[in-house]
Amino acid sequence: MNIILLGPPGAGKGTQAERLEKSHRMIQLSTGDMLRDEVTSESELGRQAKEIMASGELMPDDIVVQIVAEQLCRDECEFGFTLDGFPRTETQARALDGIMIDKGLKLHGVIEMKVDDDALTERITGRYSCAKCGAGYHDRFQRPKVEGVCDECGSTEFNRRADDNEEAVRHRLAAYHAVTEQILPFYREKGILRTVDGMATIDEVTKQIEDAIEQLQ
Ligand code: AP5
Ligand code: MG
Repeated sequence: MNIILLGPPGAGKGTQAERLEKSHRMIQLSTGDMLRDEVTSESELGRQAKEIMASGELMPDDIVVQIVAEQLCRDECEFGFTLDGFPRTETQARALDGIMIDKGLKLHGVIEMKVDDDALTERITGRYSCAKCGAGYHDRFQRPKVEGVCDECGSTEFNRRADDNEEAVRHRLAAYHAVTEQILPFYREKGILRTVDGMATIDEVTKQIEDAIEQLQ
């Protein structure tokens, strides 16, 4: 099963993609995570990405398309994958179609996660993740079982993202409404777009996504 999770910053794309990886072995392909890895490794691409991401603007299409094309060659993708944060522009959506055809892959569905803008800032400013394994948490909505200890790997070190501040969030939201949302009709016309209520609890959203996946199979 190969799907796209599409939604604004803080919609819960990463949270749900992590769950699908565990429950369905669908590999999480997050362009944001890939770009953050480049920033951490201080590669040439990472140096370019650092400033653009911190400001909340979008990276150039050709760069992200190339990264995704490489990732889709991974053997682990044979059980399926969840694209998290890609595509974000019509150019990217059309390029993805081409990549999928070249690789003989099928895109089964696109799941839009709808969340009110007001809720997103609270989600984003409360978010943190394990510094060792990357598992995601939230100050209010998703705390570790033992305070200060990662549920997944036991690490006691956590990070917050450089672009999780109010100004960058404003730009990220504006980019979502001005550009990314505009690709919804592209997938609606293909008949593979489903919408879930991203305002529901994390478990309820998982359930809605599971139902959508069942229908799309
Ligand atoms: P990216 O990393 O993709 O960021 P984003 O789209 O802004 O989305 P987030 O990761 O902030 O949110 P999420 O939907 O994953 O939410 P999460 O599950 O963490 O991209 C970052 C940057 O990289 C971009 O701005 C751009 O510069 C660049 N980039 C990346 N891809 C690109 C592309 N294709 N083209 C061009 N540029 C690109 O949840 C958020 C918090 O809320 C968590 O703490 C979680 O615990 C909590 N939460 C989740 N679900 C719920 C719920 N249902 N109820 C309550 N709390 C919840
Ligand atoms: Mg994310």
